[in-house]
Amino acid sequence: MAAESGKSGALGKSGAVAELMEALGPEMVEIDPPERFHGDWSGSPRARPRAVVLPRSTPDVATALRICHGRRQSVVPQGGLTGLAGGATPRPGDIALSMDRFAGIEAIDEAGGTMTVRAGTILAVAQDAAEAAGWELGWDLGARGSCQIGGNLATNAGGNRVIRYGMARDNVLGLEAVLADGTVVSSLRPMLKNNTGYDLRHLFCGSEGTLGVITRAVLRLHPRPRTRLTALVALASYEAVVGLLRHAQRNVGGVTAYEAMWRFHYEYVSGELGGVRPLAGGAAFYVILEVSGDDPDHDEQRLEAMLALAVGERLVTDATLAGSTAQARAMWAIREAEPIDRLPDVVNFDVSLPIADIGDFAADCEAALRERWPAAYIFNYGHIGDSNLHLSLSIGPASDADLHAIDDLVYDIVRRYRGSVSAEHGIGMLKRDYLAYSRSPAELAVMRAIKTTLDPNGILNPGKLFPAEATHTVLG
Ligand code: FAD
Ligand code: LAC
Ligand code: ZN
Repeated sequence: MAAESGKSGALGKSGAVAELMEALGPEMVEIDPPERFHGDWSGSPRARPRAVVLPRSTPDVATALRICHGRRQSVVPQGGLTGLAGGATPRPGDIALSMDRFAGIEAIDEAGGTMTVRAGTILAVAQDAAEAAGWELGWDLGARGSCQIGGNLATNAGGNRVIRYGMARDNVLGLEAVLADGTVVSSLRPMLKNNTGYDLRHLFCGSEGTLGVITRAVLRLHPRPRTRLTALVALASYEAVVGLLRHAQRNVGGVTAYEAMWRFHYEYVSGELGGVRPLAGGAAFYVILEVSGDDPDHDEQRLEAMLALAVGERLVTDATLAGSTAQARAMWAIREAEPIDRLPDVVNFDVSLPIADIGDFAADCEAALRERWPAAYIFNYGHIGDSNLHLSLSIGPASDADLHAIDDLVYDIVRRYRGSVSAEHGIGMLKRDYLAYSRSPAELAVMRAIKTTLDPNGILNPGKLFPAEATHTVLG
């Protein structure tokens, strides 16, 4: 330890683990971190962190960060590790700070329609608690069984209900976060209206662990709908996909999900899932339309009437309504597309574009990709009602140069369309080189200024969002 405090009194980072152990106790500091903490779901190169800290309270998080700040020790905040951008993946030398043990719902306020929840709470647990109390949480995503509320807020997650309730940030009334130096910034207020200066909660939402560690939040709840109906619809053109969205919103209301699949996606994934198709293949597009309402006696008729009208107007070529939760799940399984992950070296894109342009964008990308890799498997699908396309592709076993060339090709087209290189998964490590395609130099300068002000020693998730050297000297 003596060697770490030089003449200036500066503390070295090599003693950080010992100091954390002393302050928090060995049960909160794991020096041989299990495989779980070596990386997220993104497939970016995994690394064993120097240690993982598992705090049980906000003061524990504050203690851990204060020590790491003093030691200039880099820290990677970790939630459920389902992230798809490499944001929670450590670099060798980082300390992981996992929120696994700071979980649980602290309160559901019936009068205010809010839930106070700890960051480590699994999304599905929070959803179930809201439902049991007659409410609905405002977001839902495929990783619901593993991702955490803190991770959802840190990535500003989207998912399947954005069209109705917005992104994760739109469902947050109050937030508590710990800054890099251990300062607790608590804005845990339950009011919808609060115009008292800069809205600090939105600084942390979407900051991907680079500005602070989110510890607790007050979430806005929504009255739980009494009916939820799921239809699968076949359509002949992308214009019809957009047309049906507006037709449904005007004629039936309560659209809670609008998810599209291009023909190859629908046919390939349903084939891999056993070949049972709710609708025959062969249509250019398929849409999962979910409608939520409050009138169990009439909602289904209303949806059927709307779809019949759409068939009459030639917007829709075929449609079927899920008759049970199992049938609805089977439709969603095709959309969620787990079989795609079994293909070699899959590259996933998560882009947003003006909704009217998505059909042309997908066609342009496919043509450009096919020119170079004629046999590629190319899947287009996503939360089209929210202007969000997921493009996944596999060219077969791919070299690093191939993967880079695919990124360059697709993101160039995104830039040409003035779209966003990340709609909902975030930048992390994987999209860092392309951030400037969607953000202006002035925007990037403000972001870097915020980062260096809140985290002057650059300890929080260096190398994520920006290259580490863009804001600070490299740590780790
Ligand atoms: P992690 O992966 O652990 O971390 C993500 C980022 O947040 C990292 O930068 C990390 O440092 C930071 N972080 C985590 N917790 C905290 C905290 N408490 N304080 C500060 N920073 C923190 N995403 C969508 O948006 N929409 C989808 O529809 C969607 N579907 C998915 C489906 C599947 C099958 C999978 C595997 C992923 C999907 N994702 C989706 C991506 C992922 O689930 C989300 O990004 C999710 O919000 C990540 O939460 P997490 O708890 O797993 O965070
Ligand atoms: C989805 C994830 C990939 O929507 O965001 O399936
Ligand atoms: Zn998604």
